[in-house]
Amino acid sequence: MDKFLIRGGKPLNGKVEISGAKNSALPCLAATLLTPETVTLHNVPYVKDLITQRRLLEDLGATVLTPELHTQKIKAKNIEIFEAPYELVKTMRASVLALGPLLGRFGQAKVSLPGGCAIGTRPIDLHLKAFEQLGATVSLESGDVVARAPKGRLIGADTYFEKVSVTGTENVMMAAVLAKGITTIHNAAREPEIEDLAELLNKMGAKISSAGTDTIKIEGVEGLNGTEHSIIPDRIETGTFIVAAAITNGELEISKCQPKHLEAVIGKLRETGVEITELDETTIFVKRNGSQLNAKDVTTQPHPDFPTDMQAQYMALMTQAEGESTIVETIFENRFMHVSELKRMGANIHTSGNTAIVDGKTRLMGAKVQASDLRASASLVLAGLCAEGETIIDRVYHIDRGYEMIVQKLRNIGANIERVSDSMAMSAE
Ligand code: EPZ
Repeated sequence: MDKFLIRGGKPLNGKVEISGAKNSALPCLAATLLTPETVTLHNVPYVKDLITQRRLLEDLGATVLTPELHTQKIKAKNIEIFEAPYELVKTMRASVLALGPLLGRFGQAKVSLPGGCAIGTRPIDLHLKAFEQLGATVSLESGDVVARAPKGRLIGADTYFEKVSVTGTENVMMAAVLAKGITTIHNAAREPEIEDLAELLNKMGAKISSAGTDTIKIEGVEGLNGTEHSIIPDRIETGTFIVAAAITNGELEISKCQPKHLEAVIGKLRETGVEITELDETTIFVKRNGSQLNAKDVTTQPHPDFPTDMQAQYMALMTQAEGESTIVETIFENRFMHVSELKRMGANIHTSGNTAIVDGKTRLMGAKVQASDLRASASLVLAGLCAEGETIIDRVYHIDRGYEMIVQKLRNIGANIERVSDSMAMSAE
């Protein structure tokens, strides 16, 4: 099992390019199941979760060509299987995104019910409820969700999400584009990834309006066609690199990003004293110039507020800020797994329920730590980059799920980081 070996304390400097958004590419790949024609997706990040999603499409019968690393040509002409099996779903819960398109196009879908994950129980009850509101019958059969459209086609209707759900909104959008009549999604998620998926679906011939607001309208159509689309930049990767520059007291030019997709993050980081300048629509310049970081409170909320996927990285930064900061996690019930590891490095953090109080500024020391989930592993990398001495991060397979070539990208801007195997890590000691 790979580990990262980091020797910290060096300011990062240089230029880094952002990859396509994992959380947009996943639903966009699923959406290709809605048409028998070829859909070409550009700017697809080369990360583990997208490799798993591609495998799912191929298992269902689609052909996937990759003319180049970040482009996929998908043709879902001969779909004979309508099932996302347990083996795949247990490795990646986003496989549930196959439910909506399979149900929408073929009137049937079977997906293994995803179990909980490190950050929470993460049920999909709201997805299933919305499918029922579109006229589907949904049952649980030996661990699998089996959904059917009684008349072979879903019926457009008003659907209500008690809680904002990103993949829930995406699943219902993909189910409703081929339904009979009009669907309205109330209390819809507003993340940029939702807008990107809607843009792709509309290019395929769907009729979706007001994606990006909390009320999305979808007029069902008879069929969808092939098209070409480029995935938006990854706003969480962008946020992670902004923090990397700030926590190492470095200077970074971050390009191929979309600053308007992370206004809440940029706003909060500016409050803490990080200088962030938009050089143009897709490039920002980040520096700290040795100025003090100020502790600032944050509460995670659905978009457009501060994203939960930046909470762990922000916490690492707050260990280097003067004063006390309160971090409240409102989206997932178990998303403080990085706290104990940051404390092993010398951070001063107290948690109670969904609240963490960080007492900064503390001197971080290199240590052996363990990643528990994707964003927690990113926060440990950031802490290791500013810590004195060596940090060894175990279970970095978590970070490979959502960050493309992170070691190479960090090395290109001056980080002393390497990927090592178990045996190498042992000998490094
Ligand atoms: C998406 O997960 C992202 N994943 C997550 O990113 C992200 O943290 C999350 O949205 C919130 O922004 C992808 O897009 C693939 P939710 P999702 O449904 O859709 C509860 C990362 O690090 N809920 O918006 O699964 C749920 O338990 C990942 O890249 C129900 O109770 O999240 C949670 O508390 C991690 N019932 C809340 O709603 C449901 O049916 C929000 O979850 C659905 C959700």
